[in-house]
Amino acid sequence: MLKAVILIGGPQKGTRFRPLSFEVPKPLFPVAGVPILQHHIEACAKVPNMKEILLIGFYQPNEELTRFMCNTQQELKISIRYLQEYSALGTGGGIYHFRDQIVSGSPEAFFVLNADVCSAFPLTEMLSFQKEHGEPNSFVILGTTANRTQSLNYGCIVENEETREVLHYVEKPSTFVSDIINCGVYLFTPDIFQHIGTVFQKNQQDMLLEEPTNGWHRAEAIRLEQDIFTALAGQGKLYVYKTLSFWSQIKSAGSAIYASRLYLNQYHTTHPERLLGPNVSIGTGVTIGAGVRVRESIILHGATLQDHCCVLNSVVGWDSTIGKWARVEGTPSDPNPNDPYAKIDSETLFRDGKLTPSITILGCNVTIPSEVIILNSIVLPHKDLNRGFKNQIIL
Ligand code: GDD
Ligand code: GTP
Repeated sequence: MLKAVILIGGPQKGTRFRPLSFEVPKPLFPVAGVPILQHHIEACAKVPNMKEILLIGFYQPNEELTRFMCNTQQELKISIRYLQEYSALGTGGGIYHFRDQIVSGSPEAFFVLNADVCSAFPLTEMLSFQKEHGEPNSFVILGTTANRTQSLNYGCIVENEETREVLHYVEKPSTFVSDIINCGVYLFTPDIFQHIGTVFQKNQQDMLLEEPTNGWHRAEAIRLEQDIFTALAGQGKLYVYKTLSFWSQIKSAGSAIYASRLYLNQYHTTHPERLLGPNVSIGTGVTIGAGVRVRESIILHGATLQDHCCVLNSVVGWDSTIGKWARVEGTPSDPNPNDPYAKIDSETLFRDGKLTPSITILGCNVTIPSEVIILNSIVLPHKDLNRGFKNQIIL
């Protein structure tokens, strides 16, 4: 079985995200409509055999985090726990401190993800890569290509182009090292704790030689990048899986908007239900509830779309209200897409005495109750419907 750890940092982190991170812990800030962290958790939950997701950080447990974990746990049916560090232990110190929790239940391997990145998170691909390359106990870093100047802001990886082994690792170098950068997503086996343990013991010994301040604390603060990867490079243990899919850091508010765009692009395949559109126009003062789905429609000003309603190929009139879980749907009347010269048919409403299936139109101030279906219909203004209708003109 497998586990995943997400490094969520703490209140002193995420300074570039201020003032937004004063209101909400940065990992819970919404990107593409859901908390940053939820993208990580959904990616982990999709990996076959994933048993548990651990969040490690130094935030005081708060209501928001607890509620988020509780909801996500229920929705995705996977165990999610928060483990709080007593102080910032660094990217390696946190997982070392909680190693017993991580290895309990004997996972063969576990992922570690930085919370402040957005990515397609190719976790299953990293697992297959680990099996194909390197020895069974090897560790994998997710890498991507950056330009030469920007690479200096990241961990830089020199690889063996044939074996994909990491030959050199330099964290944020001052001069150019490589254009392959560390994405902050790793696949480890429990073996990693031996390597962190060695650094921990060395730190402890170094402390003994110094004055006895709060040495324990400082011995436990370990950085995966500088303290572990740099030493493991060239030892036949560390490999890089380079991804071509999207990836970005989320450090500033500006990068949150960019990350939103990257995830929204991906929603076409992963979460079409989270998208409004394509081809939606929304007037002023329109209220849209949670989980609402709209495509190929025009929503005129003052309308209210209550939670989880669905509007497809329709025009919703001014100040109309669509109830929860209702479905208002029409039939598109686009020109034939297979004929380059086709024009839209502006045919009459009726053909052979029957209403032609077309766009559904709600006049102004129409009320549609919850949980009904209105299909291919025209509803005149100021109607307060009490049930569903199909292929009708409601006068
Ligand atoms: N739990 C915990 N405890 N998490 C921490 C701590 C800590 O003490 N310190 C940092 N983190 C978390 C942060 O919340 C973030 O998600 C991640 O670890 C890395 O944060 P930084 O240490 O600030 O590193 P960085 O973002 O500048 O660089 C890292 O990520 C880059 C990719 O985004 C490095 O891993 C780079 O090599 C990498 O390129
Ligand atoms: P596509 O047309 O390929 O998207 O498949 P489909 O036939 O399942 O889509 P449909 O036209 O029925 O619905 C389009 C989108 O709206 C899908 O992503 C559905 O998940 C979503 N959807 C359908 N019915 C409802 C509903 O009652 N409420 C909400 N919130 N979403 C709905």
